[in-house]
Amino acid sequence: MDSVVYDTQGALGAQDDLSGNGRAVAAPARALATEAVHAGREDLAALGLHAAPIDLSTTYPSYDSRGEAARIDAFAAEGAEPEGPPVYARLGNPTVARFETALARLEGTESAVAFASGMAALSAVLLVRNAMGLRHVVAVRPLYGCSDHLLTAGLLGSEVTWVDPAGIADALRPDTGLVMVESPANPTLAELDLRAVAHACGSVPLLADNTFATPVLQRPAESGARLVLHSATKYLGGHGDVMAGVVACDEDFARKLRQVRFATGGVLHPLAGYLLLRGLSTLPVRVRAASANAAELARRLAADPRVSRVHYPRIGGAMIAFEVHGDPHEVIAGVRLVTPAVSLGSVDSLIQHPASISHRIVPTEDRHGAGVSDKLLRLSVGLEDVDDLWTDLDAALGGPGGR
Ligand SMILES: Cc1ncc(COP(=O)(O)O)c(C=O)c1O
Repeated sequence: MDSVVYDTQGALGAQDDLSGNGRAVAAPARALATEAVHAGREDLAALGLHAAPIDLSTTYPSYDSRGEAARIDAFAAEGAEPEGPPVYARLGNPTVARFETALARLEGTESAVAFASGMAALSAVLLVRNAMGLRHVVAVRPLYGCSDHLLTAGLLGSEVTWVDPAGIADALRPDTGLVMVESPANPTLAELDLRAVAHACGSVPLLADNTFATPVLQRPAESGARLVLHSATKYLGGHGDVMAGVVACDEDFARKLRQVRFATGGVLHPLAGYLLLRGLSTLPVRVRAASANAAELARRLAADPRVSRVHYPRIGGAMIAFEVHGDPHEVIAGVRLVTPAVSLGSVDSLIQHPASISHRIVPTEDRHGAGVSDKLLRLSVGLEDVDDLWTDLDAALGGPGGR
């Protein structure tokens, strides 16, 4: 197993000038740990505030309806964020905008657009491309079960070609609108060379789901991904109490996403925006601490005769996938400290059986073909004491030969 690499010193691209909503431009490049606690908050001191304000308004009064008409026209034509106060919450919200600013800074992209969930974010990307007549998607399995389902079932009119990473270039067609990958992938933690994948995509936008790695461990935009997607429900929120999604990308694509978000309504609630901004401030610390726990648990699981296989990413992280000789359902039934629940990325540890829950919706044959065996368990390691976690897993794995 390779050692975990924590790149927290990388200088990130930045923007300049204060223009409200914490949107700042040309600040000197700062390290990720600094951006995590300051990005999206640059205007607070001038406002006489320390914590970010939560703006719960659904509408905004204005005596200047000519001016509002002009701002709506500009948004409809370009998708640029309206200058001045928002018109209506579906067009934009200042608290959510702070989170978007901060996440874009951490991912090293121009912009970010937040949605009500990770699936709403992916749907918006597909709708943007489908509306351009680019309905074909090339994708590499495994993906999160519901992402797989959205593409396979063609619910939004997409048509998917599933390929190995080496087959991406050959699968591209004139109507290919997107290449989609996850790395490390849910649930097997399979990793891809994102730079090579981006190269194979040519001019077709690459969407990399960065939910598992977070920008603390990997910034796919630096490797050529045009779109970086997060289920912000996971590490970005970090406490299991926010459902959200976000796409970090260039401003051109962000404008199209904002137009789709406005028209289809999958907006993020401002309270969620606030919690996500707060979550980002501890993201590097949480990811680093949970990853140290996970690396140690992966080492102990790999040495355990009750465990047949352990998957732990080269880039590290707080997720472990492992296969047991015994019955995985009994392991799920046996945990007491670790919570038996789907989802991941919280301060507390969660375990689930992908074949039963997160990837249940993927047809069995496709699931097996993607390396998701019926013996596989997915563990999201939290911030508990590592020995307490091991005591719980050890008991759940059962007697000498396992359950
Ligand atoms: C890798 C990945 N992408 C996307 C999603 C979908 O996100 P959400 O549940 O926030 O809609 C998930 C959810 O588990 C996920 O694990």
